[in-house]
This record gives sequence, C-alpha cells and structure tokens, in this order.
Amino acid sequence: MAEALRVGIAGLGTVGGSVVRVLSEKAAELTRQCGRPIVVAAVSARTRKKKRGVELGKATWFDDPVALAKSPDIDVFVELIGGDEGPARASVKAALEAGHHVVTANKALLAKHGVALAEIAEKRGALLNYEAAVAGGIPVIKTMREAMAGNAISRVFGILNGTCNYILTRMEKEGISFDACLKDAQRLGYAEADPTFDIEGHDTAHKLSILSSLAFGHRIAAGDIYMEGISNISQADIRAAGDLGYRIKLLGVAQRTESGVEQRVHPTMVPTSSVIAQVHGVTNAVAIETDILGELLLSGPGAGGNATASAVVGDIADIAKSRPGFQHGPVFGRPAKELKPYRQAKMRSHAGGYFIRLTVHDRIGVFAAIAKRMAENRISLESIRQHPADADERKTVILVTHESMESAVRKAVDAITKDGHLTDKPQVIRIERAE
Ligand code: HSE
Repeated sequence: MAEALRVGIAGLGTVGGSVVRVLSEKAAELTRQCGRPIVVAAVSARTRKKKRGVELGKATWFDDPVALAKSPDIDVFVELIGGDEGPARASVKAALEAGHHVVTANKALLAKHGVALAEIAEKRGALLNYEAAVAGGIPVIKTMREAMAGNAISRVFGILNGTCNYILTRMEKEGISFDACLKDAQRLGYAEADPTFDIEGHDTAHKLSILSSLAFGHRIAAGDIYMEGISNISQADIRAAGDLGYRIKLLGVAQRTESGVEQRVHPTMVPTSSVIAQVHGVTNAVAIETDILGELLLSGPGAGGNATASAVVGDIADIAKSRPGFQHGPVFGRPAKELKPYRQAKMRSHAGGYFIRLTVHDRIGVFAAIAKRMAENRISLESIRQHPADADERKTVILVTHESMESAVRKAVDAITKDGHLTDKPQVIRIERAE
C-alpha cells in the first residue's frame, strides 16, 4: 500500500472538529477508497487546553499555523481558521510556497486572494481544493470545474447562505422574529463568527464571486458585487409575497449579459411553484444554466459541521487519490494567469420584474400619483393592489412590474418618495425567473 497522506489541520472549531472526527471514524473506508491511509499528523488552534470532544491522537501540536503550514512532516495543509487576512492567508500562502497541497473552506480568503493563491499553487504544482467554501456539502465546485467541461454557462444562481435561508424559512412558516431565528442559527453552528456577514449578504457574495469566476472565466471580483441583505425583510413582505404566489429567498445571481457579467446578491422573489422555492431551512441550492446540459439544480446541506466536513474530507481524499499528471486541472477551471479581467454589467441596467411595497397616507389622489410616476418612467405594471385601510389611516399599495430596467424603477420610486405620499421607506424586491 502507498504511504499515508499526512494532513495538518489549522482551526479546530465546529468544522475542524468534525473533520478530525470523520477522518477517524471513516479511516478504514477512506483507506479502501484512496488506496492509502489518511492520517492527521499535526494540528493547530488558538488554545491548546480547550475541551473539544475530539481525539487528536498522536498529532503534533503547533501554536503557530504558519509553522504548521511549512512543516516538512505534512503533505496537505487544511485551513479552517477563517478570515480573509491574518493567519489564514499567511498559512495558506506559506503552505503553497512550500509545495504542500491545500484544502480550505475559506470563501472570504478565496474571494479576496483566490487568484493570487491559485497562481502560486499552479506554479508549485500543488492542489488548492475549496469545495467546502461554496454551498457547504454540495459538490458544486467539482461539478462546474470537472463535470461540466465544454458547457457554456449563461446563468448561475442560488441560495448560498444557510443562515439566511433558515431565518427566512422560519419567519415564513412560524411567524417567528428575525432576531430569534438568528440566535437559533448561531446556536446550531450555521452562522459566521460575525453574523452580519450572513445577513447582510457578504457571505453569499464571497461564494458567488467564486462561482462566477468558474462560470465565466474572469478574475474573482467580489468587491464589484451588488449586495443587499435580508435585515429589512418584514413579515409584511413575506405575507405579500405569498399572496402573489412568490417566496422570498436571499439569492446570489451571476448572469452573462450583453454588457458584461451581472453579479448580484439580494432578497429575491421566486415563484412558489419553482424548485428553488422548495429549498427550506439551512439547505442550499445552486442552479446552473448551460447550452449543452440545460438547467441543473443541486441542493443539499449548506452549513454546519458535518456538511462542511463532508466537502473537506472529499477534497482531502481527492489529493490522496491524485497522482502527478492526473490532477483535476487549474484551480478556477482555467490557468489563473489566463482568467480575464471582470467586465461588470451595471446594476442600473438590470432588467427584471419588481415588487414594490409602499405605505401611503390614506387620501385622494395617491393611487393616481403613483400610477403617473410609473407611466412617466415607462414601467409596465402587472398588478397593483391596495390593502384595506389600517386603523391608523395608512394604506399599503403593492405593485408588481413587468420586466423593467432597474434605473427606471429607482427613478420612479424616488419620485414617488419625493411626492410626499409615503409614510414609511418604500420596499423594493426584485423578482427572478426560476423554473
Ligand atoms: N455561515 C455560512 C452559512 C456557513 O450560513 O451558510 C457556510 O458557509
């Protein structure tokens, strides 16, 4: 039997602990599948003394993850520290420069430095595997990078943040407050260390930037992503969406357009009958549209220790099976040096349907004034509904547009706001085509 693959793991939190446990519990099966044992040779974490409930065996302890990354006694460095700078970046860079293969679940790091790290990996002939960085346990990187060779992708979109989908699902089904749902997501180990990364859309944007690069062959451009989170989604929006036959999801969408690639993250209404609308709780889903295959939808557990560990262990096993000359190709599907600059399609040119919820004073002429502003901006309405007057003499007006330009919708809503008929901030939610 070939020699054991020696793994060094930095970061022993929820995911790191699960990886150590899975590698130990599945050792015999993994050895059979890979043709060689996988051993945890070394570990590193912030505190040595902490009780973690995992057996670290004979693994050598390192206080410094960078020293672990450079150690000649490992073959693979597994980075589960998190963060786009600091020890995560320094250790991944050091490991690749030392010629070690790297497995990481760190989407923030890849979104910011992925191309530079890929260049080092490709120069050194090392593998940089990151399946766990996008959509938890769903093997979407492998699917896009390997199984879809030759397909031209036109749109990739999905539910990429388990915490947000968990919150939106419970808000809809149980009428529970946003804050209570977020607390549960944190307790269950789904949320990021700073949960604003989840709810304000950063985490989805990091993952989308990686998918967009794989789909369209451009350099990762997370900083250019249009982003809105879910913190201003109310029960009123969720109910109105349901009445209209939609469900609200936080989607990340990357789409090829005539003017470039649109990358956007925002709360989105999808038809209740669509497959993606049936994706509930912490489950993630990624839809990929291509010329050869048509539409593919992958869904599965998107966050949490086991889901993420499944993807990390799969990446380690791929390295255990790889032989020089039989690797899965460049990190982002094309050699890092050949990735094109990102050509951004501006958000104001986005064309789609819009849901607009306005809370207005209950007085004569308001309806007519709203309709006038829509017509002035050449926005065609699919429906306009007025809800019965509330006790406090405010009314809710809900508009759904046919396909319209984002710039026109923004202008119309600004004009309506300036007209002085609104009692509250207007709510605008984009509608996405989904089968
Ligand atoms: N905080 C992330 C989520 C974890 O909720 O999806 C997985 O990246």
